[in-house]
Amino acid sequence: MSDTTRPAATYASYLEIDELLSLQHPRSDEHDEMLFIIIHQVYELWFKELLHEFDRVMQLLEQDESHRTQHTLKRILTILKVMVAQLDILETMTPLEFLSFRARLDAASGFQSDQFRQIEFVLGVKSEQAIRRFSEHGRARSALETRYHAPTLWDAFLQYLAREGYNVPAARLQRDPTTAPEPSPEIQEILIDLYRRDVKNAELCERLVDLDEGIQEWRYRHAKMVERTIGAKPGTGGSSGAAYLRETVGRPLFPDLWAIRSRL
Ligand code: HEM
Repeated sequence: MSDTTRPAATYASYLEIDELLSLQHPRSDEHDEMLFIIIHQVYELWFKELLHEFDRVMQLLEQDESHRTQHTLKRILTILKVMVAQLDILETMTPLEFLSFRARLDAASGFQSDQFRQIEFVLGVKSEQAIRRFSEHGRARSALETRYHAPTLWDAFLQYLAREGYNVPAARLQRDPTTAPEPSPEIQEILIDLYRRDVKNAELCERLVDLDEGIQEWRYRHAKMVERTIGAKPGTGGSSGAAYLRETVGRPLFPDLWAIRSRL
């Protein structure tokens, strides 16, 4: 449609408000179920925005745009802070309020969020098993397959460092992107040197540490919220619940950036 024939946008038409407001369908008459649905939908929108920004960060790194990479990482970190803070809202729901509709969720769980797994894949937490949980030929499955085979943010960062003149070993630059980045003594030596004499790239490293810490913060807060809401009961997604979530807390995304701290 040309600009002259297209109807002028309104707030409602541009944002598709009618469609958006028609997407909440509680399965019970319990008051708190609406909050539960809306908060998950809001998270899925933030996940979508994060993936959009991560794609941008990878592109900017490839173009050696260090300043704009940092700018976009700052936005990602600000979104993450909002996402962590939003858990406070859900914590106003008591265990009994949640129990009033929990059985209606059947096997539904954030565990099945493909966008959360996509974010993990970008950050190097890759799992073939996670892909197989989604039906073949669907949106989620194909998005996950693409991100599974794509380089991670850490890979893009190492490629960038090599172009900045650092002697990143070829084996690291050509590593299999479907595996998690392993800690590397050679990379740690490079990072120690970088922190001592390269302020610009040391700042970039610090933003990656912020990101790593921010994701761990979300995992910790989500795990605690789960513990205070369902105690030691198993999750609707089939895991042991809080015990499973506790195991995912504290695992660094970028282990080399943590390992060097005690040597600086
Ligand atoms: C009362 C609120 C909540 C409870 C009781 C809860 C419970 C759980 C449990 C028990 C798990 C482990 C998997 C399972 O067996 O189900 C889980 C995983 C997960 N939940 Fe929640 N959750 C809540 C709110 C949320 C919210 C608001 C989000 C935002 C999207 C979310 C996202 C996730 C994600 C992404 C996982 C997978 C984590 C991983 O595998 O590392 N949850 N949740």
